[in-house]
Amino acid sequence: MLESNSSLTLVTTAAAGVVAVGYYYANKNSNGSRRPPVVPYNIPWLGSAITLGKDPDAFFHDARYKYGDIFTVQAAGMRSTYVTSAAAISAIYRNSKSFVFAPTRLEFSVKIFDLPRSIVYDNDYMTEKIFPMHHRVLAPSNVAPMVGALIMHTIHGVKELRSKITGNQWSITLEEFAHKPIYSAISAAMVGPRFPAEKLYEPFLVFDNSFPLFAAGAPALFVQKGVRARNQLIDAFEEYLNTPGWEEEASELVRAMANGARNESQPPWTDRGLAAAVSSDFWAANGNMNWGFFWCINLMLHEPQGLAPLYEEVDAARDSWLKAHPTADLSGDSPTEIAEFLNNAPLPLVASTVSESLRVSSSSFSIRTVVEDGATINGYPQFEFSKGDILVCQTRSVHLDQEIYGPDAATFKPDRFLDSGIVTEGGSRKPFFPFGGGVSQCEGRHFASKGCKFALALFLLNFDIQLDPTYEAPSSGSALFDMTRIGAGILHPTKPTHILVSKRK
Ligand code: HEM
Repeated sequence: MLESNSSLTLVTTAAAGVVAVGYYYANKNSNGSRRPPVVPYNIPWLGSAITLGKDPDAFFHDARYKYGDIFTVQAAGMRSTYVTSAAAISAIYRNSKSFVFAPTRLEFSVKIFDLPRSIVYDNDYMTEKIFPMHHRVLAPSNVAPMVGALIMHTIHGVKELRSKITGNQWSITLEEFAHKPIYSAISAAMVGPRFPAEKLYEPFLVFDNSFPLFAAGAPALFVQKGVRARNQLIDAFEEYLNTPGWEEEASELVRAMANGARNESQPPWTDRGLAAAVSSDFWAANGNMNWGFFWCINLMLHEPQGLAPLYEEVDAARDSWLKAHPTADLSGDSPTEIAEFLNNAPLPLVASTVSESLRVSSSSFSIRTVVEDGATINGYPQFEFSKGDILVCQTRSVHLDQEIYGPDAATFKPDRFLDSGIVTEGGSRKPFFPFGGGVSQCEGRHFASKGCKFALALFLLNFDIQLDPTYEAPSSGSALFDMTRIGAGILHPTKPTHILVSKRK
């Protein structure tokens, strides 16, 4: 039970029994220095954990209003400095000399994904080889084969789903119907279709649920299930990567990782270390992208017109494509022709729906370590930071900022990213940070955005989906999201979404 909750809930619960009497007020560092203000709190150690845990969106909104764009929060024994405005976050992203992501990425490799410390820290292999390799292989010009493989495996998944619809309507959860098949398709596109991804779906979900606890460095007692699930995944990768011929249909990303590690003359790469590294990429993709895809459908289903506007767009695009290419086969038998259609058909509303879904469903803490004493954030000279300080860019605050996205910033509006909707009054692009930003912006963003768009189009072409009226659906946008995963990427749903599905002709 504890393991399915986030670190915040965990620490809040643990601390609830502690009767701590005291009063602590600090809106200034004790030396009166140029540190950001601390959000005042009454209970030592626990700090603002309860208010923050209750409604993080409201907490950050109110704190920003009262204390400014940058403030420090004491919560459950930890102090974090949050950066909550587009201006300050963008300034941090632009200054990649002073504010860097690599220490967090390295630390997470050990703490969350169980890469041996020796691999991560004994030489510069991660920073000098593995990180640049990701950048190269996932760049827009190189990622096309992986996107093509995703289309092919999604088509396969769609066919399988269609074969399961025998009656008029299929009653199923959206998790089972959308999240799981896309998980399988992403897995096949990344590591190859022979990897037993489906058998590992449950362990993957358990590990994914434990992710916030791992990230918060929770004691072993609270992550036992997560550790077991992680070991299952790493063991499976270790076995798979030693199976002759596994590379044949694997992505360049995983092949390059394995080749690099295996040809690296310097110890200490081991088979298990490699498996853990692949497992971390597997999570990077699946932990966020399939929930992103899930929300595209889920949020549309909660709109008054449901998926109708999207059906209209994909149907029109298909019809005009077939008119222009009378011999094209979009029936599902020719993945290459479908890929050509998807890559070229104008699907602006589908693309806007993907962006808008990521905007409202993402809660990413984009963490940067200060690497020099006296660093300041451009535009905020009143604050000065020291080497080793951690700044948490609270990107969700930007997405919910009414000055940027208007009074309805908290509302899901599928057409928001059409044309002028993404441009500020000054003519620049509106800040949009589901993938973080700057030089350490998510390397998988091109794969993820295209992948979600194409997978959504394929599902729309094939299925009529509606909410199952026999189940009560959460009524409003924010009630859909499990906010206990704040900061961990794309949010999870609070409860299963029951749907009715039929085949489209
Ligand atoms: C909707 C899907 C995804 C979301 C929302 C997402 C989000 C993020 C975020 C917030 C970061 C931190 C960036 C920063 O702090 O500036 C990140 C980093 C990263 N992501 Fe993603 N991600 C997604 C999909 C993927 C996929 C599909 C892959 C791999 C195929 C991937 C690979 C990575 C890598 C390698 C990094 C580290 C980047 C670096 O250190 O330079 N992500 N992602």
